[in-house]
Amino acid sequence: MLKIAHRGAKAYEPENTLQAFQKALDLNSDGIELDVHLSSDGYLIVIHDETIDRTTNGKGLVNDFTLAELKSFLIDGKYQIPTLNEVFDLVNKKCFINIELKGLETAPKVVSLIEEYISEKDWKYEHFIISSFDWNMLEETSKLNPNISIGVLTEENIDTALAFAEKIKAKAIHPDFQLLNAENVQQMQEKGFLVLPWTVNSEEDIQKVKTYQVNGIISDNPDKI
Ligand code: G3P
Ligand code: CA
Repeated sequence: MLKIAHRGAKAYEPENTLQAFQKALDLNSDGIELDVHLSSDGYLIVIHDETIDRTTNGKGLVNDFTLAELKSFLIDGKYQIPTLNEVFDLVNKKCFINIELKGLETAPKVVSLIEEYISEKDWKYEHFIISSFDWNMLEETSKLNPNISIGVLTEENIDTALAFAEKIKAKAIHPDFQLLNAENVQQMQEKGFLVLPWTVNSEEDIQKVKTYQVNGIISDNPDKI
């Protein structure tokens, strides 16, 4: 049962910060999940929303700011927004990284960064899995580099996600946990896919999805899994 820390260990530290990812490592998570957008000067920025309004003391679209400008805003008055490179360097192969492509045009840059860390820093393909609700970006990813593992995100329909996962030869399906039952989990696994539901936080829900024998759980509190 893989323990995957959602946006870092979001229950304990501000989401998508280096502090949240360090906390996830301290809790012995098998993986971390994070979200990426692009800055106006083309850097991969780890942040969930398309604006900085909810999580920082600034306002505006991530895409409208340079990296230097984004670094001037603070999360909870003390933390900076990290780049994807900074998270890779912090994690340093201690667990795998589930990169959710949120912002447009992120796929080619994420693929290039993964290739750089594999060729120059001794990372392996198993350290990465790319997911997205935007399936066009997943198709683009698999065309750019078919060796990179893909997790098909869905909040709507398991059958459609399963068909798409087969089409692009994905590694996993990442469903909203509320779509699951023992039967459809088995169906996805019989077709060869890992089933990694999100975002499962309460002990009651964690117990429920465990009875379906999922392969892992994405949670704000991975220590409860
Ligand atoms: O990985 C699944 C989960 O992160 C998707 O939802 O909104 O938290 O990015 P969200
Ligand atoms: Ca996410």
